[in-house]
Amino acid sequence: MTDIAITRTTNPGKPPADETLTFGNIFTDHMFLMNYDAGHGWHDPRIVPYGPFSLDPACCVLHYGQAVFDGMKAFRGPDGHIRLFRLADHARRLNQSGHFLCMPELDPAMVEQSIRALVEVDQRWVPSLAGTSLYIRPTIIATETFLGVHPSHSYLYYVIVGPVGAYYKEGMNPVRILASDTHVRAVQGGLGAAKTAANYAASLFGAEAAQKAGYTQVLWLDGVERKYLDEVGTMNIMLKIGDEVITPPLNGTILAGITRDSVLTLLRDWGLRVSERPIAIDDVIAAAQAGKLEMWGTGTAAVISPVGELGYKGERYVINDGQTGALTQKLYDTIVGIQYGTAADPHAWARPLGNRLGG
Ligand code: COI
Repeated sequence: MTDIAITRTTNPGKPPADETLTFGNIFTDHMFLMNYDAGHGWHDPRIVPYGPFSLDPACCVLHYGQAVFDGMKAFRGPDGHIRLFRLADHARRLNQSGHFLCMPELDPAMVEQSIRALVEVDQRWVPSLAGTSLYIRPTIIATETFLGVHPSHSYLYYVIVGPVGAYYKEGMNPVRILASDTHVRAVQGGLGAAKTAANYAASLFGAEAAQKAGYTQVLWLDGVERKYLDEVGTMNIMLKIGDEVITPPLNGTILAGITRDSVLTLLRDWGLRVSERPIAIDDVIAAAQAGKLEMWGTGTAAVISPVGELGYKGERYVINDGQTGALTQKLYDTIVGIQYGTAADPHAWARPLGNRLGG
């Protein structure tokens, strides 16, 4: 274990009422920081009062986007205890994303320790209302001051956390997504599998067009043939046609979602037929028209999000009468039950804060 220096705020904030929480606009009293310098390695892990930090205007992350992040959650169950959902897997993924962006290795054990320590310090901010949680955003940015294009020699790893409610304004109600035939998010050999700022920058233009057309999100198709489903950017996509559950494979263009993995594991536990294989948009539309389609997204922020309508090439296709499907609801209830400690957790995904039940 590395020693983490803790400087507590002298001006603690007041957590908002759980009922008022939306997503991503409230942060707690503290943040975690740690620096990297070539030749010195990662150093100075510390928790300090939350606030702005200064960056040189020539800092390379501001110009070339060498930045990665992850997103995970802590939950306060009805028993009052705080649980972290698949922390070790998120820590590993942050390090993998960094690898794509030529960043130095950051020991996943250090990521775990930093997150546990910060959540412990700010634990009074973990909300308890059903559907709320503490969202955790570990981030690594390149901090060297230069304008040449090459990997930075210095980095800042930081973690911020904040209480959140539902990601989509629809909550658990079905969302409408637009399969884009005009914009692409990623291609094989690119950064699509990394959780990096660049992928989200690439999604903005298409997402805005989708929102203007009345959709919540874009369903990205493959960047080459524009024929096969990739992901939704804020979530992985899954569907059920007949007795087969299908999701696009991890082929380098989509994020290896932790919720995606949790859902696939549960489905296999339940004995369902699960295929990670390419699925063509035309087959999805044919299934929607035949009334045989159930569709949902999976993500840390989005949890399990039913899809009630699909747009493509100017047409709108209603899915499952615009209602949440039975399997989607069962997945939501099971995942949420595990996260809040009210359902059996056979894979030990929800781990108590510290090595005990905190809260
Ligand atoms: C998450 O689900 O944690 C994400 O990072 C998606 C989004 C909020 C950018």
